[in-house]
Amino acid sequence: MNETTQAFETIETATRPTDLFGTAVDAGARTEARREYHRLIALVHPDVVNRRDCGRATVVIGKLIRLYRQWEETGATSGTTLVGDRHLYTFGGTGIVGSVADVYRGSSDDGEGVVVKIPRKPSSNALMDAERDALIDIQASGGDGNDWLRHYFPRFVDRIGHQDPTTRERRSINVLNDIGTSFVTLADVRAAYPDGLDPRDYAWMHRRLLRALAAAHRAGWAHTALTADNVLIEPERHGVVVAGWSYATRIGDVPPLAALAERPPEAASMQPVTAGWDVYMAHGLMLDTLRSQTPKRLRSFADGCRQKNPQHRPDAVDLLSEFDDLLENLYGRRRFRQFAMPASAG
Ligand SMILES: Nc1ncnc2c1ncn2[C@@H]1O[C@H](COP(=O)(O)OP(=O)(O)O)[C@@H](O)[C@H]1O
Ligand SMILES: [Mg+2]
Repeated sequence: MNETTQAFETIETATRPTDLFGTAVDAGARTEARREYHRLIALVHPDVVNRRDCGRATVVIGKLIRLYRQWEETGATSGTTLVGDRHLYTFGGTGIVGSVADVYRGSSDDGEGVVVKIPRKPSSNALMDAERDALIDIQASGGDGNDWLRHYFPRFVDRIGHQDPTTRERRSINVLNDIGTSFVTLADVRAAYPDGLDPRDYAWMHRRLLRALAAAHRAGWAHTALTADNVLIEPERHGVVVAGWSYATRIGDVPPLAALAERPPEAASMQPVTAGWDVYMAHGLMLDTLRSQTPKRLRSFADGCRQKNPQHRPDAVDLLSEFDDLLENLYGRRRFRQFAMPASAG
């Protein structure tokens, strides 16, 4: 069978976009799909086929274009099912592009809402493994009396060891519980308040961030990549979830290289990581979220947490009460403040 006949048959027998273009687990697969689309177009285009195939070509090319459009719109993963160590997961839609992974919403075969975190490069598999270890350890460190922990971290659900059928590349994929669509990132909050957020609104975000960090550090892990898009905020219910644990490092180990704009000074010398790394970054987030709204005393509080020597920075667990005292001094007794993102944001 020649290439053109084969192309006709492939398109005619296809019933779903993925029949033609496969599963887009990464950017490489998308490039591949585009190439395949152009290859097929070139073969079955009515302008290039034999005159007697023109009618057939018109129908086939219509179908090809339609399937490719669908493939692109759905992120090509619509209805993709992968097998994890414990369950089957079906996911789809346009993925959220994280710093190392694409994150897709889906569900497990027992009905739990999950996100499936697929590293774009197989070389990021170790980062996925670190994220899994960190989340499991932190969760376990909670023990029975510390159920509150689960509100601050995504829960590790399962791991999928995936091999791409065409490229043979292996990927370590993390399945986490879906924390829902009511969250925005701290980066979104910052963008919505370009002149700086009112410190009384930031107060609860920071308290919860410090609580989460204290728990992670107690479990022996540093996050090391506390950027504004890894801090997820639920405005109405004052929820904070620390996501993006791919660069998590055991305290005392040397962290993997991350292309982060804002890192503590010790990052340059490849020192073993301390809890102070996170304390430094968390207070960078504070300054960057409050901007011109930062009261002097909060600025010096943040400066103390961003001292050059990581050993001089306070522990997250001690900062909790210091931060509360400082806020009380500045604003009086703590009370609940409604917080909402401006209507135009997000
Ligand atoms: N458990 C989750 N539930 C819902 N959304 C999530 C969850 N984990 C991550 N996300 C979304 O996906 C984005 C990227 O996830 P993240 O874990 O930071 O990936 P990466 O490590 O590649 O940066 C997050 O900013 C968030 O919007
Ligand atoms: Mg991230």
